[in-house]
Amino acid sequence: MVSIFPSYLAPLREALLGRAISRGLLELTVHDLRAWTHDVHQAVDDSPYGGGPGMVMRPQVWGDALDDVLAGPPARLVVPTPAGRPFTQALAREFSAEERLVFACGRYEGIDQRVLDDAARRVTVDEVSIGDYVLVGGEVAVLAIVEAVVRLLPGVLGNPRSAAEDSFSDGLLEGPAYTRPEVWRGLAVPDVLRSGNHALIDRWRRDRSLERTHRRRPDLLEALPADALDRADRAL
Ligand code: ADE
Repeated sequence: MVSIFPSYLAPLREALLGRAISRGLLELTVHDLRAWTHDVHQAVDDSPYGGGPGMVMRPQVWGDALDDVLAGPPARLVVPTPAGRPFTQALAREFSAEERLVFACGRYEGIDQRVLDDAARRVTVDEVSIGDYVLVGGEVAVLAIVEAVVRLLPGVLGNPRSAAEDSFSDGLLEGPAYTRPEVWRGLAVPDVLRSGNHALIDRWRRDRSLERTHRRRPDLLEALPADALDRADRAL
C-alpha cells in the first residue's frame, strides 16, 4: 500500500493480522508516497483545475509510485474514496481470492483521475467506499478493507465456520449471541439456546436474524434472491 502517512497503517501489524503476517499467511509492505517526489518540498498536491476548495494529489508522483509498486507479480489496484462503489462482503471475498492487492491512499480532494485511468490500462482498478460518510483520507478505509479481506484467507481464523456463518454470508444480519453465566444482572439467556435441540436452535437463530434484518436493514431483505427465504421464514 502507498500512503503519505505510512504510520497510520501500523495497526495492520497488530492482533489477528499481525499473527497472520508472522505465520507467513500474507505479506504486507507499506510505502511512503514521498519517496517518489523529486522536489525539495516533497509536494504531493496542487490546486484543482476548474477551481474549488481543497487540493488534488499530483499525477507525476503517484504515476511513478504505482509504476514501481505495480511492477512484479500481477496485482489489482484498490483506491478507497467516498466516491467509490460500496465495499461489501462479496467484494471482500473477491479481493481475498487475488494474489496481490495494491492500495493507493489518497488525501485531500483525491488523486488526479488520470493516475487511475492510466493504471486501468494495465491492471484492474477498483475505487471503493466503505460507507456514506467522508473520512480525511483513505488510510482508515484501507484498515477496514484489509481486515475484512484477511480474515477470509484460509488459516487466518481459528474456526473456518466463523467466516462462513458471518453476518452477510447469507445476506442477513446475525442475531444476538450469549455466553455464561445463565443469568446476568437479572437478564437470562433464552431457554432455547440451553435446550440442546439443534433443530430448534437453528430455527430460533434464523428467526432472530430475520427479525433483526427486517428492523435494521430492510434493504438487505429486499435484495435477497427470490428463493432465499423458505416457508417458515416467510411465516415470521
Ligand atoms: N476516503 C474518504 N472517505 C472514504 C470512504 N467513505 N470510503 C473510502 N475511502 C474514503
